[in-house]
Amino acid sequence: MDSSVRAVVWRLIRPGALAAVQGLAVALLSLTTNVALFVLSVVSLALIPALGIGFAIFPAVTVLVRASLTLQRRLSRWSGAPIASPYAPVPAGARIGTWRRFRWVVGDPATWRDFAWLIPGAITGGVCLLAFVLPAYGLEGVLFVPLVLYLTIDWYGYGVFWPMDNLAKAWLAAPQGWLLLAGGLVAARWLMWLHFRFAGLFLAPTRAQELALRVRHLTATRADTIDTQAAELRRIERDLHDGAQARLVALRMSIGLAEKLLADDPVAAQRLLSEAQEASGHALAELRDLVRGIYPPVLAERGLDGAVQALALAVPMPVDLDVQLAGSPPAAVESAAYFAVAEALTNVTKHSGAGRAWIQLFYDDGVLKMVVGDDGRGGATVDAGTGLAGVRRRLAAFDGTMTVTSPPGGPTVVTMELPCELSSPRISPSSGTG
Ligand SMILES: Nc1ncnc2c1ncn2[C@@H]1O[C@H](COP(=O)(O)OP(=O)(O)OP(=O)(O)O)[C@@H](O)[C@H]1O
Ligand SMILES: [Mg+2]
Repeated sequence: MDSSVRAVVWRLIRPGALAAVQGLAVALLSLTTNVALFVLSVVSLALIPALGIGFAIFPAVTVLVRASLTLQRRLSRWSGAPIASPYAPVPAGARIGTWRRFRWVVGDPATWRDFAWLIPGAITGGVCLLAFVLPAYGLEGVLFVPLVLYLTIDWYGYGVFWPMDNLAKAWLAAPQGWLLLAGGLVAARWLMWLHFRFAGLFLAPTRAQELALRVRHLTATRADTIDTQAAELRRIERDLHDGAQARLVALRMSIGLAEKLLADDPVAAQRLLSEAQEASGHALAELRDLVRGIYPPVLAERGLDGAVQALALAVPMPVDLDVQLAGSPPAAVESAAYFAVAEALTNVTKHSGAGRAWIQLFYDDGVLKMVVGDDGRGGATVDAGTGLAGVRRRLAAFDGTMTVTSPPGGPTVVTMELPCELSSPRISPSSGTG
């Protein structure tokens, strides 16, 4: 088969084949865990009035139910529409066995919606078995039955789950198998989609839960933003105190001394004045650096795309740059994006030992995406230093996210996303520095 034809066929078959395997996994998981957890939940609920120990057992069973359904929510991304988690965080001090924990579990509507899902989930999960069985049966007809016929024609009578009680039916196995295989692969995708849509009715957060989660997220990011700003102010204050202020004090003393010496020792006075001039140069440079750290002038002059290109030029290795921005984000977002890329690039220079790096910057579906990658040694972790953790906090203030993939041996890829609007369309260049 010609390779381009093979590629097209594979592209058609692959999603169905994936859905078939995923259907098998979903069916096995739902049929076993949902039923077992349903039985456990009913028993633990029954124990509440009977013995009272249900007060401890029911919340413990809820932990298992939540773990299992969290996995099922994760799997829902197979259908292209991931289901978010609806749970409220455990209140402080609400350990299993305490009345507080019991009240929290019973009062959370997610507990009862999870419970309501267990049996319907086992049924629709079980139906997902068809996603695997139909194409697998078709494949058997296509491959195995002709093989049996080829090896020893006498075997046809045994059928291999196929209706092969006579030779004519056996020969028909292949065309029927092809039909079943093709139909099964299409049906597999639909079955998975339907299953997860149905799951969403029980497992996705309700509007009220979504709003509660949103409020919690905003509260946390607001606190982080305030912390970050306070830290930033402290840094500026420290930089001014230790840097420019110290130099200006020295400058003032030098000029004062020079003034006193001017009449008696003009040579020494001149030396002091030239020292003072030098100190004023340093003070100016430090002030300039400080200003650059607050809002880099390059951003104002050249926009985010130009500023990122300037950052790439300063990296001591070839950097592939792919910048596609048809406008500029709001200034605050732009500055957060700039500092995030700058930190990721500093890390590449400092830690990666890479021979090559790449930057992608583009806007897609309301989100500004920035990817900084390198082919270095990998092993980056967000919480090891203050840089990446700071970037995550900085982006979270704008509802943005950062993910780091950095297996040992590399490559390291830092992906950052910032939801925002772009203004004033303009065409941006795209180039490489390597
Ligand atoms: N591109 C990279 N390649 C390899 N390791 C990395 C990379 N980026 C980060 N790391 C590792 O992850 C750790 C955390 O990075 P982070 O930026 O948070 O801290 P840092 O660079 O060590 O210190 P800081 O940024 O606070 O000056 C680093 O110490 C380094 O070991
Ligand atoms: Mg760093």
